[in-house]
Amino acid sequence: MARLIAPSILSADFGRLAEEIAQLEALPVDWIHCDVMDGVFVPNISFGLPVVAAIRRLTQKPLDVHLMIVQPERYLAAFAEAGADILTFHWEATPHPDRLVQEIHRLGKKAGIAINPATPAEVLRDILPEIELVCVMSVNPGFGGQKFIPYVARKGYRLSRLRAEVGSRALLEVDGGISLETVGDVPWADVLVAGQAFFQAPDRAVFAEQLRRSPAGFT
Ligand code: DX5
Ligand code: ZN
Repeated sequence: MARLIAPSILSADFGRLAEEIAQLEALPVDWIHCDVMDGVFVPNISFGLPVVAAIRRLTQKPLDVHLMIVQPERYLAAFAEAGADILTFHWEATPHPDRLVQEIHRLGKKAGIAINPATPAEVLRDILPEIELVCVMSVNPGFGGQKFIPYVARKGYRLSRLRAEVGSRALLEVDGGISLETVGDVPWADVLVAGQAFFQAPDRAVFAEQLRRSPAGFT
Protein backbone atom coordinates (compact mmCIF):
# COMPACT_ATOMS: atom_id res chain seq x y z
CA MET A 1 0.00 0.00 0.00
CA ALA A 2 1.27 3.46 -0.87
CA ARG A 3 2.03 5.57 2.14
CA LEU A 4 -0.26 8.43 3.02
CA ILE A 5 1.01 11.94 3.67
CA ALA A 6 -0.79 14.07 6.26
CA PRO A 7 0.51 17.64 6.67
CA SER A 8 -0.15 18.99 10.15
CA ILE A 9 -1.96 22.30 9.77
CA LEU A 10 -0.53 23.39 13.15
CA SER A 11 2.56 24.62 11.29
CA ALA A 12 0.60 26.55 8.64
CA ASP A 13 0.31 30.34 8.64
CA PHE A 14 -3.06 30.82 10.39
CA GLY A 15 -3.28 34.37 9.08
CA ARG A 16 -3.49 32.88 5.59
CA LEU A 17 -5.33 29.69 6.44
CA ALA A 18 -7.62 29.73 3.40
CA GLU A 19 -4.64 30.09 1.04
CA GLU A 20 -2.71 27.38 2.87
CA ILE A 21 -5.65 24.97 2.57
CA ALA A 22 -6.18 25.88 -1.09
CA GLN A 23 -2.56 25.02 -1.73
CA LEU A 24 -2.85 21.69 0.13
CA GLU A 25 -5.94 20.90 -1.89
CA ALA A 26 -3.84 21.03 -5.07
CA LEU A 27 -0.83 19.14 -3.67
CA PRO A 28 -0.13 15.40 -3.66
CA VAL A 29 -1.06 14.99 0.00
CA ASP A 30 -3.74 12.67 1.35
CA TRP A 31 -5.15 13.90 4.63
CA ILE A 32 -5.10 17.14 6.59
CA HIS A 33 -3.96 16.50 10.15
CA CYS A 34 -5.64 18.84 12.65
CA ASP A 35 -4.00 19.07 16.08
CA VAL A 36 -6.52 20.08 18.73
CA MET A 37 -4.87 21.01 22.06
CA ASP A 38 -6.63 22.07 25.25
CA GLY A 39 -3.83 23.41 27.45
CA VAL A 40 -4.61 20.65 30.00
CA PHE A 41 -3.78 17.31 28.42
CA VAL A 42 -0.86 19.08 26.74
CA PRO A 43 0.88 22.32 27.76
CA ASN A 44 -0.31 24.24 24.71
CA ILE A 45 -3.58 25.51 23.23
CA SER A 46 -4.01 25.35 19.47
CA PHE A 47 -7.48 25.56 17.93
CA GLY A 48 -10.86 23.94 18.23
CA LEU A 49 -14.23 23.40 16.63
CA PRO A 50 -14.72 26.59 14.58
CA VAL A 51 -11.32 26.20 12.93
CA VAL A 52 -11.92 22.53 12.08
CA ALA A 53 -15.33 23.50 10.65
CA ALA A 54 -13.70 26.27 8.59
CA ILE A 55 -11.07 23.86 7.23
CA ARG A 56 -13.88 21.43 6.38
CA ARG A 57 -15.51 24.07 4.18
CA LEU A 58 -12.22 24.68 2.33
CA THR A 59 -11.17 21.14 1.40
CA GLN A 60 -12.42 17.81 0.10
CA LYS A 61 -9.51 15.94 1.68
CA PRO A 62 -10.14 13.76 4.71
CA LEU A 63 -9.64 15.57 8.02
CA ASP A 64 -7.53 13.58 10.45
CA VAL A 65 -8.43 15.16 13.79
CA HIS A 66 -5.95 14.47 16.60
CA LEU A 67 -7.54 15.32 19.93
CA MET A 68 -4.95 16.17 22.55
CA ILE A 69 -7.59 16.94 25.14
CA VAL A 70 -8.81 15.60 28.47
CA GLN A 71 -12.23 13.93 28.57
CA PRO A 72 -12.31 13.47 24.78
CA GLU A 73 -15.73 11.77 25.09
CA ARG A 74 -17.27 15.20 25.67
CA TYR A 75 -16.31 16.44 22.21
CA LEU A 76 -16.52 13.49 19.82
CA ALA A 77 -19.97 14.38 18.49
CA ALA A 78 -19.03 18.04 18.08
CA PHE A 79 -15.88 17.26 16.09
CA ALA A 80 -17.78 14.74 13.98
CA GLU A 81 -20.31 17.48 13.27
CA ALA A 82 -17.49 19.94 12.48
CA GLY A 83 -16.36 17.61 9.71
CA ALA A 84 -13.74 15.19 11.05
CA ASP A 85 -13.35 11.98 9.04
CA ILE A 86 -10.94 10.31 11.44
CA LEU A 87 -11.25 11.00 15.16
CA THR A 88 -8.18 10.14 17.20
CA PHE A 89 -8.14 10.41 20.98
CA HIS A 90 -5.28 9.65 23.37
CA TRP A 91 -5.15 6.31 25.14
CA GLU A 92 -3.79 8.22 28.16
CA ALA A 93 -6.78 10.58 28.24
CA THR A 94 -9.51 8.08 29.10
CA PRO A 95 -10.10 4.98 31.19
CA HIS A 96 -12.66 3.86 28.58
CA PRO A 97 -11.01 3.63 25.15
CA ASP A 98 -13.48 0.96 24.00
CA ARG A 99 -16.50 3.12 24.81
CA LEU A 100 -14.99 5.98 22.79
CA VAL A 101 -14.22 3.76 19.83
CA GLN A 102 -17.81 2.56 19.83
CA GLU A 103 -19.06 6.13 20.02
CA ILE A 104 -16.85 7.25 17.11
CA HIS A 105 -18.17 4.39 14.99
CA ARG A 106 -21.74 5.22 15.98
CA LEU A 107 -21.04 8.73 14.66
CA GLY A 108 -20.00 7.15 11.34
CA LYS A 109 -16.32 8.11 11.64
CA LYS A 110 -13.05 6.23 11.63
CA ALA A 111 -11.53 5.68 15.07
CA GLY A 112 -7.91 6.30 15.96
CA ILE A 113 -6.03 5.92 19.22
CA ALA A 114 -2.86 7.93 19.85
CA ILE A 115 -0.17 6.74 22.25
CA ASN A 116 2.46 8.93 23.86
CA PRO A 117 6.15 8.07 23.41
CA ALA A 118 6.40 6.26 26.77
CA THR A 119 3.19 4.23 26.33
CA PRO A 120 3.94 0.66 25.23
CA ALA A 121 2.49 -0.81 22.04
CA GLU A 122 1.07 -3.76 23.97
CA VAL A 123 -1.70 -1.72 25.64
CA LEU A 124 -3.46 -1.74 22.28
CA ARG A 125 -3.35 -5.53 21.77
CA ASP A 126 -7.02 -6.27 22.41
CA ILE A 127 -8.52 -3.16 20.87
CA LEU A 128 -6.35 -3.14 17.75
CA PRO A 129 -8.83 -5.13 15.60
CA GLU A 130 -11.55 -2.60 16.47
CA ILE A 131 -9.83 0.58 15.31
CA GLU A 132 -8.81 2.06 11.96
CA LEU A 133 -5.71 4.00 13.05
CA VAL A 134 -2.95 4.06 15.65
CA CYS A 135 -1.20 7.41 16.01
CA VAL A 136 2.28 6.67 17.29
CA MET A 137 3.59 9.85 18.89
CA SER A 138 7.26 10.33 18.13
CA VAL A 139 7.46 13.54 20.17
CA ASN A 140 5.74 14.49 23.41
CA PRO A 141 2.49 16.00 22.18
CA GLY A 142 1.99 19.73 22.51
CA PHE A 143 4.14 21.49 19.95
CA GLY A 144 5.18 21.34 16.33
CA GLY A 145 8.83 21.41 15.37
CA GLN A 146 10.17 19.08 18.07
CA LYS A 147 12.91 16.49 17.71
CA PHE A 148 12.00 12.90 16.79
CA ILE A 149 12.43 10.53 19.78
CA PRO A 150 14.47 7.59 18.44
CA TYR A 151 13.18 4.78 20.71
CA VAL A 152 9.67 5.24 19.31
CA ALA A 153 10.93 3.71 16.06
CA ARG A 154 11.29 0.33 17.84
CA LYS A 155 7.72 0.54 19.12
CA GLY A 156 6.46 0.85 15.54
CA TYR A 157 7.96 -2.52 14.64
CA ARG A 158 6.30 -4.09 17.67
CA LEU A 159 2.97 -2.56 16.72
CA SER A 160 3.33 -3.82 13.19
CA ARG A 161 3.93 -7.38 14.46
CA LEU A 162 1.08 -7.06 16.95
CA ARG A 163 -1.24 -5.91 14.19
CA ALA A 164 -0.45 -9.02 12.13
CA GLU A 165 -0.78 -11.26 15.18
CA VAL A 166 -4.27 -10.04 16.15
CA GLY A 167 -5.52 -9.66 12.57
CA SER A 168 -5.97 -5.89 12.69
CA ARG A 169 -6.07 -3.66 9.62
CA ALA A 170 -5.41 -0.43 11.51
CA LEU A 171 -3.09 2.02 9.78
CA LEU A 172 0.03 2.97 11.71
CA GLU A 173 0.54 6.73 11.70
CA VAL A 174 3.70 8.37 12.98
CA ASP A 175 3.38 11.89 14.36
CA GLY A 176 6.19 14.22 15.38
CA GLY A 177 9.58 15.25 14.07
CA ILE A 178 9.19 13.57 10.69
CA SER A 179 11.57 14.90 8.05
CA LEU A 180 13.71 13.47 5.27
CA GLU A 181 16.34 12.76 7.96
CA THR A 182 14.04 10.75 10.25
CA VAL A 183 11.60 9.09 7.87
CA GLY A 184 14.11 6.29 7.24
CA ASP A 185 13.62 5.18 10.86
CA VAL A 186 9.90 4.50 10.41
CA PRO A 187 9.50 2.10 7.45
CA TRP A 188 6.56 0.59 9.37
CA ALA A 189 4.49 3.79 9.15
CA ASP A 190 1.54 3.80 6.75
CA VAL A 191 0.71 7.45 7.40
CA LEU A 192 3.36 10.14 7.78
CA VAL A 193 2.34 13.33 9.59
CA ALA A 194 4.65 16.26 8.92
CA GLY A 195 4.27 19.77 10.27
CA GLN A 196 7.32 21.96 10.37
CA ALA A 197 9.34 20.03 7.76
CA PHE A 198 6.41 20.15 5.35
CA PHE A 199 5.48 23.81 5.76
CA GLN A 200 9.12 24.96 5.66
CA ALA A 201 10.03 22.87 2.62
CA PRO A 202 11.13 25.00 -0.33
CA ASP A 203 8.83 22.97 -2.58
CA ARG A 204 6.00 21.27 -0.69
CA ALA A 205 4.97 19.08 -3.62
CA VAL A 206 8.50 17.73 -4.03
CA PHE A 207 8.80 17.21 -0.28
CA ALA A 208 5.52 15.28 -0.14
CA GLU A 209 6.66 12.99 -2.96
CA GLN A 210 10.08 12.47 -1.34
CA LEU A 211 8.40 11.46 1.92
CA ARG A 212 5.98 9.15 0.12
CA ARG A 213 8.81 7.42 -1.73
CA SER A 214 11.01 6.94 1.34
CA PRO A 215 11.73 3.26 2.06
CA ALA A 216 8.65 1.54 3.43
CA GLY A 217 7.85 -1.97 4.61
CA PHE A 218 10.20 -4.43 6.26
CA THR A 219 10.53 -8.14 6.82
C1 DX5 B 1 2.42 17.39 18.20
C2 DX5 B 1 1.39 17.25 17.11
C3 DX5 B 1 1.99 16.95 15.78
C4 DX5 B 1 2.84 18.06 15.24
C5 DX5 B 1 3.74 17.52 14.19
O1 DX5 B 1 1.81 17.61 19.40
O2 DX5 B 1 0.50 16.20 17.41
O3 DX5 B 1 0.98 16.60 14.84
O4 DX5 B 1 2.08 19.11 14.72
O5 DX5 B 1 4.58 18.55 13.82
P1 DX5 B 1 6.13 18.34 13.44
O6 DX5 B 1 6.16 17.51 12.19
O7 DX5 B 1 6.60 19.73 13.26
O8 DX5 B 1 6.77 17.61 14.60
ZN1 ZN C 1 -0.80 15.42 15.72
